[in-house]
Amino acid sequence: MERTLTILKPDSVAAGKTGAILAQLEKEGFRFVGLRRMRLSKDQARAFYAVHRERPFYDALVAFMTEGPVVVAALARENAVAHLRKTMGATDSRKADPGTVRQLHGTDIERNAIHGSDSAENAAKEIAFFFSDSELI
Ligand code: RTP
Ligand code: MG
Repeated sequence: MERTLTILKPDSVAAGKTGAILAQLEKEGFRFVGLRRMRLSKDQARAFYAVHRERPFYDALVAFMTEGPVVVAALARENAVAHLRKTMGATDSRKADPGTVRQLHGTDIERNAIHGSDSAENAAKEIAFFFSDSELI
């Protein structure tokens, strides 16, 4: 079993899609090993997306990720990192495949409903960013 980290972003949570997205993830075979609803601080959002700090969209991304509550989950499944990226769809919701979370619940390249780790190495770091070992069951 591999682990990955997802965030249901403020757009999808505000739209009342938490249950639908978590149900889709469960149907795809993911188990929730950690789950929390929270609001990110600016510092947390900046740190979480620090890899993008030189990108032109960084400030807008931080503003978006802190505009309302998010749902953070550590997920377990075979091939979890790649399978979550497939279940999410392309970064730009307008280009995401039919039936993917981003196509169903996102709007565009920024407001795209969900985050997923992009490698097993980053997944481990991102899970540790939000959860202590004792919270991962
Ligand atoms: P994520 O990290 O959230 O799972 O998204 P991703 O891997 O598909 O895309 P990434 O390149 O890591 O971008 C992180 C998030 O920044 C916002 N973004 N805005 N305005 C833009 O051109 C732009 N590009 C990216 C999106 O919210 C994207 O998910
Ligand atoms: Mg990314």
